[in-house]
Amino acid sequence: MCGIVGYVGRAEAAPILLEGLRRLEYRGYDSAGVATLEEGCVSVRKEVGRIDDLKKAIGSHPIGGTTGISHTRWATHGKVTRENAHPHFDRSGKLALVHNGVIENYASLRAQLEEEGHIFQSQTDTEVLAHLVGRAFDRSSERTQGALVAAVRDALRQVTGTYGIGVVHAEFPGLIIGARRGSPLVLGIGKGEHFLASDVSAIVSHTRDVVYLNDYEIAAITEDGFTLSTVEGLGADYNVTTVDMTDEDVGKGDYTHFMLKEIHEQVRSVTDAMRGRLSHEEATAKLGGLNMTNAELRSVERIVLTGCGTALHAAMVGEYLIEHLAQVPTECEFASEFRYRNLPMTKDTLVFVMSQSGETADTLAALRESKRKGHRTLGICNNVASTIARESDGGVYMHAGPEIGVAATKSFTSQVTVLALIALLLGRIRNLSSAAGSRIISEMETLPDLIAKVLAKEEEIAAVARRYAQAKVMLFMGRQLNYPVALEGALKLKEISYIAASGYPSAELKHGVIALVNAETPSVFIAPDDAVFHKNLSNIEEVKARGGPVIAIGTEGKGGELSLICDDVILIPQAPEILTPILTSIVLQIFAYHIAVELGCDVDKPRNLAKSVTVE
Ligand code: AGP
Repeated sequence: MCGIVGYVGRAEAAPILLEGLRRLEYRGYDSAGVATLEEGCVSVRKEVGRIDDLKKAIGSHPIGGTTGISHTRWATHGKVTRENAHPHFDRSGKLALVHNGVIENYASLRAQLEEEGHIFQSQTDTEVLAHLVGRAFDRSSERTQGALVAAVRDALRQVTGTYGIGVVHAEFPGLIIGARRGSPLVLGIGKGEHFLASDVSAIVSHTRDVVYLNDYEIAAITEDGFTLSTVEGLGADYNVTTVDMTDEDVGKGDYTHFMLKEIHEQVRSVTDAMRGRLSHEEATAKLGGLNMTNAELRSVERIVLTGCGTALHAAMVGEYLIEHLAQVPTECEFASEFRYRNLPMTKDTLVFVMSQSGETADTLAALRESKRKGHRTLGICNNVASTIARESDGGVYMHAGPEIGVAATKSFTSQVTVLALIALLLGRIRNLSSAAGSRIISEMETLPDLIAKVLAKEEEIAAVARRYAQAKVMLFMGRQLNYPVALEGALKLKEISYIAASGYPSAELKHGVIALVNAETPSVFIAPDDAVFHKNLSNIEEVKARGGPVIAIGTEGKGGELSLICDDVILIPQAPEILTPILTSIVLQIFAYHIAVELGCDVDKPRNLAKSVTVE
């Protein structure tokens, strides 16, 4: 979604801002803009399209200055046009503002400002905020830095909704003001320079020392330092965090796309999700971050897992794992629906919110609603500095490393791994024997090798993918643990290749889906060697009987039966049933990736999508 980068220091601001915006490209955007302060004026350049278009615009009409703010916009209020791109100005034209989030009461505020004679250039909610700050500053009796901060405070008190903002004013050439509520904002500390960003990856090549702003905090940033206060006008404490992220982590290395790099990182990311968490001695998982004693965990009567998109698919695998190993009734719920449902939740219901970014607005809202109702709410997050990680009562970090590709890959397998650890722990404090616990641990320890074997098949999978790249519709089928993988495989394919794809439990075919089967509609069956293998085989026969092409994902040693009836077969190595979703999902990631590449799609920046969806 939208991204913010700000710079104040001694270097030329524009190149630093452009580089920062480029690092935020993965979040998804449709237009971009930069404003710098030079010679008592605000210079601005905005373009619809890519950062390269903005760079060209700045190349032909350069802007100078050592202070500036910049933004990538993902349209919510108002079409994708240059006028609607940020930064936006106040009435005086001296104040520029960039904004992430949504000002919910913008329409009434705009009407009121228009009555006072304010004229707006855009359809955005953001421009209203710029006018409010400018009006408050112009009404103040002082023209000082403190008065500008007070004007920001005054404006923020009038708005409802969410914001992460950056503000500059022509009269203060070495000052940026930032503030947040609901949209992440981080302040980067350099030597003789400071940064503001919505995501630390934008500034990590300059500094790793950062301060994460809390909701309702306002930062006034100069080249030499910064001050923090609150929207209420109080002082604010802060901690400087040294981020554990390098420039390399946020680069593509030798890979053509972030998605491919992240697919290949899964041997390491799954290893890191398990590292130090498996105890052979006690035949269980150790998850100290849950902040719950075994007695408390034993009293859990019900579990609700919630998240969006890929995170919800991982949750659905988790539902099977927890019920299978621990026999605790578990339910998955779309985070976007959680708040509006009246889920029957007893006082001993434990809620897990799952989010790679830890900033997804719907998931954050589910977390807050669950806590409001008094439930212990734990997070399964990748981003340790995220709002969800901070607001959860405890949880488990995925340790997958930065995921930049919009299509989630390694976060899915890390989430499933973490859920398997939770299922093991919950099982062991209930009925699961120590022998069964030890066997599961030994099996989980084989995962990195099994993943490496799947990754080694990339060329074989790519060849199959290329054969089906021209399909207009594709169906994905799986049963039990691999039903959520069918959903995930379909999601991967449609989001990066725009092929219409849907996932179903295999047996649902005959209840309607089979009407879609014809010679032009390939069906992907996830049919590893498990308890329902022969059931899947029967469903494959039903598709073949109607002339539909079938691609099967099976298991080595069971490939013969599949090859007899399927058009193409991709085999994963022999693996315990509970680990198959991790291996089959990786096959489908590679499959979707190579179809998208074959079709010439922009794999890392699919149309209309954002990496982190920070609006409802
Ligand atoms: C999947 O490829 C998507 N990028 C999307 O469904 C994603 O999983 C969803 O938006 C949730 O994101 P989160 O894990 O950061 O909360």
